[in-house]
Amino acid sequence: MRITISDIKADVGSIAGHCRPHPLQLEAAKKVLKEAVDKGTIIDFYVTRVGDDIHLIMTHDKGEDHPDIHGIAWNAFKEATSVAKKLGLYAAGQDLLSDAFSGNIRGLGPGAAEMTFEERPAEPVVILMADKTEPSAFNLPLARIYADPFTTTGLVIDPRLHDGFIFEVVDVIDHKRIKLSTPEELHDLLTLISDTTRYAIKRIFSKNEKIGIAAVVSTEKLNITAGRYVGKDDPCAILRAQSGLPAVGEILQPFMFPHLVAGWMRGSHHGPLYPCCVDDSDPTFFDGPPRLVAIGFQIKEGRLVGEENPDSSPVGEHKPIDYFKGSVFDHARRIAAQIAEYMRRHGPFMPEIVPPEELEYTTRPSVLKKLEERMEKL
Ligand code: F6R
Ligand code: MG
Ligand code: MG
Repeated sequence: MRITISDIKADVGSIAGHCRPHPLQLEAAKKVLKEAVDKGTIIDFYVTRVGDDIHLIMTHDKGEDHPDIHGIAWNAFKEATSVAKKLGLYAAGQDLLSDAFSGNIRGLGPGAAEMTFEERPAEPVVILMADKTEPSAFNLPLARIYADPFTTTGLVIDPRLHDGFIFEVVDVIDHKRIKLSTPEELHDLLTLISDTTRYAIKRIFSKNEKIGIAAVVSTEKLNITAGRYVGKDDPCAILRAQSGLPAVGEILQPFMFPHLVAGWMRGSHHGPLYPCCVDDSDPTFFDGPPRLVAIGFQIKEGRLVGEENPDSSPVGEHKPIDYFKGSVFDHARRIAAQIAEYMRRHGPFMPEIVPPEELEYTTRPSVLKKLEERMEKL
């Protein structure tokens, strides 16, 4: 069976700062998705959040970029925005940049990661959801997972992974893309994706055509989409696992190292990526540090399967694995908290703050203009 899994996300308002959505917003979104199941437009869904972002995870047979699926997401975010406005939540409707939906959410504000594949007899899927950072924050961990044999031993000892993977990289400024094959082109790949201001991994493919797509990342650049800063383009990614693809444990391993990413307060700082469970994803220290949640499902004939009892659970109610809940990741969290505190001691100085051209908020042009006349030639 060929199915599509879509994770469409947006920040449409939250309680007491850019912190977490109200439960009534999640309920409003679920109602729209439940109706879509009843109508047969989607097969299954799960609504969750990381920090202030609502994630609509949907399975269906419509393929990627389908107007019906994007329309459902748009309506769900509209309903969640109405709740936000009614309750007076902060930044109500922030990511809905247009009043009118025209068939596709790309370019309108929400982010989307979508992939289509032939479902394997057992299909484990991991969904990564980050708050207060950008899509290229996934470049380093994805390179480790799919191209680094010191992370994924499967690349060395599993004949099904031994040939490596194909990376599709996008240039988010010039809107171009390129495919690079690893391990042959690993160094070229790293030349591009180590520049996280410009290049982001969009998709990764298995070289085994029967398996097809391995991973996909949302790569919308909100600040560029809107032509002005309206909110960080907090990313998500969908990764299929096991049986010829990296194991779940290989997917999660890189996050034991809380690498520095851009985002955090006012989208303008560098901070460590803090792996945590959904409930711990409120960005509480200087609006962060940037949060990462990983949840896991099996997929069976398009249905999402977690710990719930499918015979008695209402549609859309699932209990996925919340991978970073476990105590082993306390180690990464402690390191991340130390790095966060160390970085903060730099205050508004680089490299804690991003370079001038990357600032999401800036007073530079007006300050430079004001001081222009007093600037003396040396
Ligand atoms: C970053 C983020 C927050 C806000 C910050 C200032 O993605 O959402 O860090 O940028 O709280 O928010 P405003 O300008 O709304 O007061
Ligand atoms: Mg926000
Ligand atoms: Mg957010």
